[in-house]
Amino acid sequence: MKNDEFRKHAHELVDWMADYMEHVESYAVKPTTKPREIIHQLPGHPPATGEPFAAIFEDFRETIVPGMTHWQNPSFFAYFPANTSGPSILAEMLTATLGAQCMSWATSPAATELEERVMEWLGEMIGLPAGFTGVIQDTASTATLCSILTAREAKSDYAINSRGFSTDRRFTVYCSSEAHSSVEKAVKIAGIGKDQLRKIPVDTAYAMIPEALEEAIGADIAAGCTPLCVVAAIGTTGSTAIDPLRAIGAICRKHGVWLHVDAAFAGTALVLPEFRWMIEGMEAVDTFVFNPHKWMFTNFDCSAYFVKDRGALIRTFEILPEYLKTSEGERVNNYRDWGIQLGRRFRALKLWFVIRSFGVAGIQQKVRCHIELAQGLAGKIRAAGDFELLAPVPLNTICFRYRPRRIANEDELNRLNAELMERLNKTGKIFLTHTKLNGRFALRFVGAQTNVEERHVQEAWEMIQRTART
Ligand SMILES: Cc1ncc(COP(=O)(O)O)c(C=O)c1O
Repeated sequence: MKNDEFRKHAHELVDWMADYMEHVESYAVKPTTKPREIIHQLPGHPPATGEPFAAIFEDFRETIVPGMTHWQNPSFFAYFPANTSGPSILAEMLTATLGAQCMSWATSPAATELEERVMEWLGEMIGLPAGFTGVIQDTASTATLCSILTAREAKSDYAINSRGFSTDRRFTVYCSSEAHSSVEKAVKIAGIGKDQLRKIPVDTAYAMIPEALEEAIGADIAAGCTPLCVVAAIGTTGSTAIDPLRAIGAICRKHGVWLHVDAAFAGTALVLPEFRWMIEGMEAVDTFVFNPHKWMFTNFDCSAYFVKDRGALIRTFEILPEYLKTSEGERVNNYRDWGIQLGRRFRALKLWFVIRSFGVAGIQQKVRCHIELAQGLAGKIRAAGDFELLAPVPLNTICFRYRPRRIANEDELNRLNAELMERLNKTGKIFLTHTKLNGRFALRFVGAQTNVEERHVQEAWEMIQRTART
């Protein structure tokens, strides 16, 4: 593609992008696409010769877009969001244009130093105590894996990195029964074994019970195991339950256990001082992750990982082949040694654009607004005689179900609510997902899409009631 063609098409695409953002509400949030419907429209073999850009772009519009779920539609209330914003998208365009590989300071000095500074800003914005150093990872899953690997190495005096699991020491890892599946995946990948993962029971608010944790650690010590790491959740995926960090931290300190905090979604709420109670007890925490790519208006992927002992992190991952040796030494960060992958995208740029464009007050205002909108809806659900909340609503995730007086049987209620969700999502006007809490099917409403407003929430609530009652 010649540069004048690039310029022309780039303008066309930016026009399409701006139109898309303006009219995203008119797209069905969830497509009605059937399995394999898209692949049948795609040629089975690659084109032997290059095609005109106009044809490619047309196929994007006609084949791909109709088969997409529109995560940026403000009536997207499913999962946790993957928010974007204008400044973040613009930064991604620049990142793609620079095409820089940011594995070390020498390969992209400005990207490295911007990442260092932006992570300091982010730590300050969410009220992390002094002593944490940040690095951007692709996802919270990767950050949790990094944490467990670092714990494994720190606890084994870096022997497993060198010799593998040569001793018969059995490590154990702990999380609540509501923790994200990425913990189990990390335990498997780290060679600890999922049978060595203890899922600690939760209380009525779906938060980890510290006494049960202490008991499990005691039992493992008595059985000759070595308790390695606890993963506490600040905002579980199911219902954003908040594990009691101070009590968990005290247990970890007492037994010399590493403590990782997974705040993938809810971490963004820490920009609001009134939510800092969620991280009371951070002194005992070793590592902490949250995802600006979920609720902080920053395009996927961008996961903020903070560590107390950066030396331990680097010692776990560092490898220095001859071709990567440079002369800057300790004065600079080489982020290739701060995680799993060697090659790294320039992800700090979009975070920098977002924080500067919104300002801290702008981010706080949006996050506060999201929480207020959801709290308002939770109040309406609570007040409706035939609906009920199935979990506390500390932030903006609401777990609820339709419960007409005539039905008392739990299986029937589960069926009814699964059907209700299906019928709602089929309209394409809203998109909700579900979880199971204590065996009960709960519809999950997450009010966190960048541009969600009162009217979207109100329309959703009216549609939910209407659909449920007819
Ligand atoms: C609590 C929690 N932890 C971890 C994850 C995984 O996040 P990622 O997709 O960034 O790996 C999620 C995803 O929703 C989550 O809710």
